[in-house]
Amino acid sequence: MKPHAIKGPLRLLALAAVALAASGCERPAEQKAQTGYRGTGMIDYQNPHLVAAKKAANVVPPAQPPAPAVGPPASQVYQNVQVLGGLSVPQFTRLMLAITAWVSPEQGCNYCHEGNNLASDAVYTKVVTRSMLRMTQHINSQWQAHVGQTGVTCWTCHRGKPVPSEIWFNHVDPPRARLAGNNARQNKADENSIGMTSLPQDIYETFLLGDANIRVTGTEALPYGNRSSIKQAEWTFALMIHMSEGLGVNCTYCHNSRAFNSWATSNPARVTAWHGIRMARAINNDFLQPLQPVYPANRLGPSGDAPKLNCATCHQGVFKPLYGAPMLADYTELAAPVPAPPPPESAPFEPPVEAPADAPASAQSQSSVGAPAG
Ligand code: HEC
Ligand code: HEC
Ligand code: HEC
Ligand code: HEC
Repeated sequence: MKPHAIKGPLRLLALAAVALAASGCERPAEQKAQTGYRGTGMIDYQNPHLVAAKKAANVVPPAQPPAPAVGPPASQVYQNVQVLGGLSVPQFTRLMLAITAWVSPEQGCNYCHEGNNLASDAVYTKVVTRSMLRMTQHINSQWQAHVGQTGVTCWTCHRGKPVPSEIWFNHVDPPRARLAGNNARQNKADENSIGMTSLPQDIYETFLLGDANIRVTGTEALPYGNRSSIKQAEWTFALMIHMSEGLGVNCTYCHNSRAFNSWATSNPARVTAWHGIRMARAINNDFLQPLQPVYPANRLGPSGDAPKLNCATCHQGVFKPLYGAPMLADYTELAAPVPAPPPPESAPFEPPVEAPADAPASAQSQSSVGAPAG
């Protein structure tokens, strides 16, 4: 039946149904916030439905009750403690409970431990966790230019799952016919596709593992050299779309789009982001990539590389992870490395003041101080 065949009251009814359906799926009014000077059009837009969902997904679990720093350090009580030796036994146990709740709440202690032999390193996840502990302490103590005093805990990335929801592997080119043109690593659906665009898909290894130049705007009238080409700009734009999506913000959260390259008209958040790019590179190179030999094959990427992080691993669609909840304050042992005290020195030999009565004569004569002669 052609639309114009509907007549009279039936037609009115059909129109009303269309209007109803259209209003039912109408987008709610956007929430707007001005992020730059007035008149610059730097407005951050948020969809209230998505904001509500994000708030629900960014809840911090209650902290474990505090534990006292009493008794001998863990390094002296346990057999195989290499990172947390400086904690007291109650503090150590509290952290084990916390990381179980943050990383493997369903699997429990045995996700990292082999049965009752808690000192064994047989399970690879325990070896990975040592690096994770060092990495977390390193981020919080060495990258305050990015994470500030808010910092990160295991929960920031893991959210109750052994494998964080946002990780990436090196892009592998799909098979293609010989003589087919070079697809420049774009225009193909892929798990690394950026924001449903056809932009390049190998941006993480290019910018967050490698240190390729991100700036593309020429600084002279007729820029030359490949880094300023339009093609190169596609890589930069793909990274920027990842950053916007990872943080759930528009470009104008950081830039005045009049001149994307101008720092003078950018927001302070862009400087934080600049440090974040360097931090992500350093963590991928110094902590995550080196874990490659530790992982079983099913955890590695299609080219055998280790899982790595990007902005979304911590941020998960929010401008500050967990909306800036100061979770680290309850776990100061993750704020910086905790040095283990040196093992107690074995008591220096002191000659007995009085030789025991049954000691042989030669020994008695050697023990000098205060020893009765003969
Ligand atoms: C996500 C991994 C992980 C989970 C889950 C975990 N642990 Fe651990 N555990 C470790 C790591 C890593 C070490 C070694 C720490 C170090 O080297 O400083 C360790 C060491 C220990 C030790 C010291 C053993 C020794 O003699 O060397 C004890 C005790 C312990 N854990 C108890 C527990 C208990 C109890 C649970 C469950 C509530 C638990 N752990 C859950 C990773 C984990
Ligand atoms: C900055 C983000 C980040 C933080 C913080 C972090 N992790 Fe991870 N973690 C990762 C990434 C990325 C992986 C690789 C995922 C994989 O194994 O496939 C990983 C892997 C792991 C694994 C291996 C899981 C598996 O099944 O292969 C364990 C266990 C783990 N982390 C424990 C921890 C603990 C405990 C902490 C806190 C001391 C922590 N992580 C902090 C990002 C993080
Ligand atoms: C979270 C902050 C942030 C967001 C959001 C962001 N950018 Fe950027 N942008 C940066 C930073 C930081 C640099 C400089 C990177 C560097 O030099 O390491 C940059 C660089 C650029 C450049 C290169 C400028 C030059 O000097 O050549 C362009 C172009 C650009 N961004 C476009 C965009 C676009 C388009 C969007 C939105 C899709 C966007 N950016 C979103 C932070 C951001
Ligand atoms: C290891 C976890 C982690 C990673 C990875 C990470 N960030 Fe962050 N980021 C944080 C934390 C934590 C804060 C909050 C700092 C604070 O409260 O001062 C933050 C804050 C920011 C802010 C400031 C927001 C504001 O409104 O002030 C920007 C912008 C930002 N990150 C951008 C990025 C970009 C871009 C990337 C990827 C290149 C990235 N971050 C990767 C943890 C991370």
